[in-house]
Amino acid sequence: MLKHTINQLQAMNFYFLCTYKALSMQRPFNISPRNTLKGRHKEIYEFELPDHNIDDKVVQSFGEEWSKFHQFSQEDIDQLGEMYFDIITDEMVNERTYGFDLGCGTGRWTKVLTSRIGFMEAIDPSDAIYTADELLKNDDNVRLSRASSDRIPFDDETFDFGMSIGVLHHIPDTQKAMRNCVEKVKKGGYFYTYLYYNFEDRGFLFKTLFGIVDGVRQVVSSLSPRLKKFICDIIAIVIYMPLVLLARLFNKVGMDSIAKRIPLYFYHDQSFYIIRNDALDRFGTALEQRFSKQEVITMMKHAGLDDIVVSDGAPYWHAVGKRVR
Ligand SMILES: C[S@@+](CC[C@H](N)C(=O)[O-])C[C@H]1O[C@@H](n2cnc3c(N)ncnc32)[C@H](O)[C@@H]1O
Repeated sequence: MLKHTINQLQAMNFYFLCTYKALSMQRPFNISPRNTLKGRHKEIYEFELPDHNIDDKVVQSFGEEWSKFHQFSQEDIDQLGEMYFDIITDEMVNERTYGFDLGCGTGRWTKVLTSRIGFMEAIDPSDAIYTADELLKNDDNVRLSRASSDRIPFDDETFDFGMSIGVLHHIPDTQKAMRNCVEKVKKGGYFYTYLYYNFEDRGFLFKTLFGIVDGVRQVVSSLSPRLKKFICDIIAIVIYMPLVLLARLFNKVGMDSIAKRIPLYFYHDQSFYIIRNDALDRFGTALEQRFSKQEVITMMKHAGLDDIVVSDGAPYWHAVGKRVR
């Protein structure tokens, strides 16, 4: 009985120490929030959104998208997380790291890092921040803010690590938004990003196909939220799934090199939920920009990063760099 009580006290002590250590990493905001919203689980600090370098329609559409797609299974998150974070080392992210996730959406990538990182500021300007509140409800080392790239509410050189995954290409001036992020990272700290690639290594046929798909995106993204979701579900079934099934078939019969050439191969081992979510993401968003590997590297250099590592693996391009100036 006594031993059991001592064990319980030790466990409680350990929990409080960890929580204290994580919370003591937080730095104060450098602007006062205009509001403190009550999420179901955490407080959400809401900041004034600037009227430049943000596309309001895009932000609203993501708020709608993430409120429909936020129930990722742990398996989905872990599997994709391994692909996204293949270039993140323990030196970049560990229990002493203070980080931020700009454009966190549902908070799924913050979630992947919470067990590795000291403390994380999860930031998003859209209603998605409420879904992040749900997903991250048990993570004491996360604080939620509603803010945007142009006004990240912390002093420059505050963080050891920053990330922005699948976000900067939806912001009108991607380079500026990247610089805004990197400014918040300390010299010697790291910034990680994922930006859509422009199919630079693909042939004429693939690029023509993409041109058509992009035209469809521009039409679909202008529809009402319900119609958009409906059309994107149809696209997931009639366009994504046949290609995904074909890629799976080639993989099964050992013809991997052919499978990899099939458009949307990336999804061959993803769940239908992820496929539907990504169809809405791809076709439902009015503004997207695409970059070559070299353009990504150049932008990262201009933002003040060096020692840049671009992953050879999908999704393309995800890259990390060290802040040098
Ligand atoms: C494709 S989602 C990515 C969400 C998340 N990083 C993920 O990969 O699951 C893009 C996110 O960027 C956010 N966003 C759009 N404009 C932004 C801006 N100017 N500053 C910060 N975030 C922005 C949207 O609200 C949306 O949640």
